[in-house]
Amino acid sequence: MFKIAVLISGSGTNLQSIIDSIKSNYLNCSIEFVISDRKNAKGIARAINNNIKALYIKKSECSNQSISDRILEIVDDKVDLIVLAGFLSILEGKILQKFKDRIINIHPSLIPSFCGKGMYGIKVHEKAIEYGVKFSGCTVHFVDEGTDSGPIILQKVVTVNMDDCAEELQKRILKEEHKALPEAIKYISEGKVKIIKHKVIIED
Ligand code: GRF
Repeated sequence: MFKIAVLISGSGTNLQSIIDSIKSNYLNCSIEFVISDRKNAKGIARAINNNIKALYIKKSECSNQSISDRILEIVDDKVDLIVLAGFLSILEGKILQKFKDRIINIHPSLIPSFCGKGMYGIKVHEKAIEYGVKFSGCTVHFVDEGTDSGPIILQKVVTVNMDDCAEELQKRILKEEHKALPEAIKYISEGKVKIIKHKVIIED
């Protein structure tokens, strides 16, 4: 069985989409751990309700480096893939080498637009609307040393309407995220994903 750890900071709707995909047998995976860097993250309750081991790592007591090391201690040799599903801490150090090409993230824009340091949450959508893009969407990508800079696994496109506010766009994109993340995990867990330089090839 393909084993994953899901890292969260917030409401965990993407985590829920993975849980639901496992329940419906779309994914043949098991979630070994849900790890949160926020104590009150709603996603923790989602994990507990589904009998998944949920852990909280206090962010204020950890630098990014030590959060990364702590997570590595927990998941090392126990999971095949780490999924960042709305996880706000930046992973650094050993975990990136140990889990090279085995950490993925979901970002609510079409990378390389509206991404990078400090671009998260509603800000991403505000910037997309302010810029006047006609399309936005979401991106699932591998995590490397940079911020939102790793190879892109898949993207889903959403139309930006003239009268959209950031919250409306965010909602519409989130719906697509809930399809994109399980789809990417499915390809990886079935061994269909290859990385050639910065390009991801999905073989069927
Ligand atoms: C999503 O928009 C995701 O793209 C971003 O953070 C948000 C998390 O939402 N990285 P949720 O916690 O999965 O509901």
